[in-house]
Amino acid sequence: MPRPLDRARAFADRFGVKLPVLMAPMAGASPPALAAAVAEAGGMGACGAMPFGRDGIADWMARFRQMSAGAVQINLWVPDEVVRDPEAEAAQAAFLARFGPAPAIPQGALLPDFDMQFAALIDAKPTAASSIMGLFRPDQVAELKAAGIAWIATATSLAEGLAAQAAGADAVIAQGVEAGGHRGAFTPEAAARAQVGAFALIPALADALTVPVIAAGAIADGRSAAAALALGASAVMPGTALLRTPEAAIAPAWAEALAHANPEDTLLTRAYTGRPCRAIANRFLAQAHAGDAPPPAPYPVQRHLTDPLRQDAAAQGDTGRMYLLAGQAAAQAQALPAGQIVARLWAEAEALLGPA
Ligand SMILES: Cc1cc2nc3c(=O)[nH]c(=O)nc-3n(C[C@H](O)[C@H](O)[C@H](O)COP(=O)(O)O)c2cc1C
Repeated sequence: MPRPLDRARAFADRFGVKLPVLMAPMAGASPPALAAAVAEAGGMGACGAMPFGRDGIADWMARFRQMSAGAVQINLWVPDEVVRDPEAEAAQAAFLARFGPAPAIPQGALLPDFDMQFAALIDAKPTAASSIMGLFRPDQVAELKAAGIAWIATATSLAEGLAAQAAGADAVIAQGVEAGGHRGAFTPEAAARAQVGAFALIPALADALTVPVIAAGAIADGRSAAAALALGASAVMPGTALLRTPEAAIAPAWAEALAHANPEDTLLTRAYTGRPCRAIANRFLAQAHAGDAPPPAPYPVQRHLTDPLRQDAAAQGDTGRMYLLAGQAAAQAQALPAGQIVARLWAEAEALLGPA
């Protein structure tokens, strides 16, 4: 069995990075400056491109390239089928109006066109493309291979990891249930049912797959990075740990909430978007999870229904209602430049794992 640091070095050589540290893609919180800082430190930057159209993806990459020639991935959400239920949506809208401006029932196309996003990704020529909430189609995988863009697929279970490898993924992200943000499970049902922790998921995937495994979920410093590599991962993917950096430039109230979030202070919730995501518990979530609250609409309807609430809460810096995405290790996130966090994380992991 290769030793962890040998495995990590082989990954770094294969994916064109100096350090086996990949910034987690974070839609709404992965500005080019953060990605460039990670890439300049020797890791791989990331763009959470889910909300972007063609121009948004091209602009993001142009700004990244002004700051770094390093490695970078673009991440897309594989869309769920949109399911509508007018009566349930009206009940949910009435409930949400208790917490902010009354939402309109969303109409028209609720998601950016996936094929258009994918074409923009190919044109942007990133080092890697990553998928979440499903797999790229065979024709898309063929396009990535022809363009020399590696495919990194998110998996939250052994079955999803095996399916990703069979579909041609070049590496698989083991996203543990500790992770901040949305669960990457292929279906909304699996996201709610299968909640595997990183300690079980990483070795299960590492034993079963021939492609490298990238650990995501509560990777916050050298200890968790070394543990993930010892469990069989070839690289690590911190997300929340980078959110308090000056480059991430998130809302000050969110950054402050991260600093004080104990491991037990986050929960998985469908209340903001309809897909389970991990966020810091607050007043709105307590009421949305109460027995008498109407069930949230499926993704992406719920995301649109909560737009006014999330915008109003953010404008007022009201953490009782704000969308405070965070992983279970949030309190370990440091308010330091991202390059320092990446360099320190890897130096500590290397020291713990010993000389290669
Ligand atoms: C604010 C935020 C936004 C996220 N958005 C995305 C996304 O757009 N696509 C994706 O694949 N994962 C997304 N994630 C999940 C991360 O890629 C990663 O799995 C997670 O941050 C790892 O756990 P950690 O936060 O404990 O480090 C997001 C996470 C956060 C915290």
